[in-house]
Amino acid sequence: MTTSISHAVIPVAGFGTRMLPLSKAVPKELLPIGNKPAIHYVIEEAIAAGIKHIVLVGHSQKSAIENYFDVNAELDTQLRQKGKDALADSLNWLPDDVSVSMIRQGKPLGLGHAVLAARPIVGHYNFAVLLPDVVLNPFTTDLRQDNLAFMIDAFNHNQQSQILVDQVADSDVHKYGIAKLCEGEFAPMQSNESLADNQSFGVAGFVEKPSLKDAPSRLAVVGRYVFDNRIFDYLAKTQPSVGGEIQLTDAIDALISTSGVQVTTMKGNSFDAGDMTSYMKAFIYFAEKQLAKQQ
Ligand code: G1P
Repeated sequence: MTTSISHAVIPVAGFGTRMLPLSKAVPKELLPIGNKPAIHYVIEEAIAAGIKHIVLVGHSQKSAIENYFDVNAELDTQLRQKGKDALADSLNWLPDDVSVSMIRQGKPLGLGHAVLAARPIVGHYNFAVLLPDVVLNPFTTDLRQDNLAFMIDAFNHNQQSQILVDQVADSDVHKYGIAKLCEGEFAPMQSNESLADNQSFGVAGFVEKPSLKDAPSRLAVVGRYVFDNRIFDYLAKTQPSVGGEIQLTDAIDALISTSGVQVTTMKGNSFDAGDMTSYMKAFIYFAEKQLAKQQ
């Protein structure tokens, strides 16, 4: 796969209030799902899609995440002295050509503000954004070609920013950014059929966390994005809106007016690791799959 996207921004500044008490002393991104911390799967997904530079956007309480991706030299030496080389090697799983850096958001002004905070590191490159609360099912998809990898290919092909979407229940539309589709572009949704896997369509805009009556569709922003670098210019001009926060979806709407933006339908399913019920279901699902492999 050729890729023009080598940077991924992962905002990790949220306090994780929906995950208390688990997230009181441990960043929610480091809570286990089966045998690995949640963010481990998100980074594996990024690397499988060809990402080389990962930029975490956090704050002072999140330095444990940075440590998770760094070499713990003392532990490494101790394990090797005890002959546990395989275990030591398994901790240094990050490929040599992949870097992880962390930058701080400063003020908690919203997702759009967090993404903009990564600009000094991303520079002029086009880039991906992965929201770490969302863990895609790696057991039913091929991370090297589906979802994020597919979106990067689509972007390389047509230079249009790609936003991953999935169909949600009526009762859930208020939790998400909801896509407003271009007239006549999206036949499967209009006739209520199930969604096709990984297809890209033009999108007219997004409504952030609408009420059911204002929701323009049932297609929700999942938390995977591939952006033309110009999104930074729009983010810099975006004013706070829903929830008093600088919303990424508002900047995407502005990007639509100057360059094409497409939604990509999701393949497989995802888990919301920032929500206690969904997190517990994810833990059970991943643990069962991993235990089955050991037998
Ligand atoms: C954010 C985005 C929203 C998206 C959601 C996916 O909301 O603003 O558009 O649908 O992530 O999880 P948050 O969950 O941070 O409130």
